[in-house]
Amino acid sequence: MKYCDILSFVAVILVLGTTINNVGAGSNVEFDVNYNVAWGNDHVLFLNQGREVQVSMDIRSGAGFGSKLSYGSGFFHMKIKLPNKDSAGVVTAFYLTSSTNNHAELDFEFLGNKEGKPITLQTNVFANGQGDREQRILLWFDPTADFHTYKILWNQYHIVFYVDNIPIRVFKNNTNIGVMYPTQPMQIESSLWDGDSWATDGGKTKTNWSSSPFIAQFQGFNVDGCSLSQTSNNTQSCYSSNYWWNQRKFWKLHHNQEKQYQQVREKYMNYDYCSDRNRHPIPPPECASNGI
Ligand SMILES: *[C@@H]1O[C@H](CO)[C@@H](O)[C@H](O)[C@H]1NC(C)=O
Ligand SMILES: *[C@@H]1O[C@H](CO)[C@@H](O)[C@H](O)[C@H]1NC(C)=O
Ligand SMILES: *[C@@H]1O[C@H](CO)[C@@H](O)[C@H](O)[C@H]1NC(C)=O
Repeated sequence: MKYCDILSFVAVILVLGTTINNVGAGSNVEFDVNYNVAWGNDHVLFLNQGREVQVSMDIRSGAGFGSKLSYGSGFFHMKIKLPNKDSAGVVTAFYLTSSTNNHAELDFEFLGNKEGKPITLQTNVFANGQGDREQRILLWFDPTADFHTYKILWNQYHIVFYVDNIPIRVFKNNTNIGVMYPTQPMQIESSLWDGDSWATDGGKTKTNWSSSPFIAQFQGFNVDGCSLSQTSNNTQSCYSSNYWWNQRKFWKLHHNQEKQYQQVREKYMNYDYCSDRNRHPIPPPECASNGI
């Protein structure tokens, strides 16, 4: 990246960052409104009247929380500040997941690292039970120093993963070329857990428990999603344009976003299943269009 490109890229991020903060302030609700603790209750601490949650992990346990409802479309977000210092082996996750057969899942997984080494952000997409779609990027900031917003747009046109409003991954609805696309209701989940069998240096660098407890902080518990009852799988009703994230401006990336997405892929992506010829001698069909 040329120096002036870096400057303009940073400027764009700063401008977008300001917008997010303004939007977030009015819609900040308590954790209990939309979420429950799923496991590790004694490793979850509520701060600021339930508007911030601190999750910790030690050798006994990590913890996780999830949305009370399932959703059939939406623009989901979480503000996260990752465990700092030596977090090798520690995985912080924010994802959508179905609890039905034909599993659907959309993952942000932050793979911790030794102090001073970069944290990897891995994303994955499962549709109709099929995952194996890992992509990995490094971030252009220190995700342990501050809260940043991680978002997943899901409508019937595409699924987009964003970091502070910068698109880092697009999974298009390519059902017309035979690629399965998530159809089941999904819940929002977040967790902090020990992934040292695989997360850091392919599992060679283990969690250093003398650095525990590891602490991740979460904010932003309002949900922009089309909720469905557990018994109904009528995701079709969630494609209505009455939901703002289904409207035309969210059908594809606009020009600036496309440029940002390209920059992220060029400068920050260090693994893409689409170009892993050992795992996929023939790239899966969606690869031709996801890279743009
Ligand atoms: C995917 O797109 C097709 C049109 O190409 C549409 O008919 C279908 O409903 C979409 N699928 C989902 C699950 O959103
Ligand atoms: C684990 O952390 C302790 C305390 O921070 C440090 O002294 C030790 O060297 C670390 N061990 C490894 C294997 O990095
Ligand atoms: C939705 O539910 C109906 C019955 O209520 C079932 O026949 C159908 O297979 C379900 N579809 C999905 C995608 O789970």
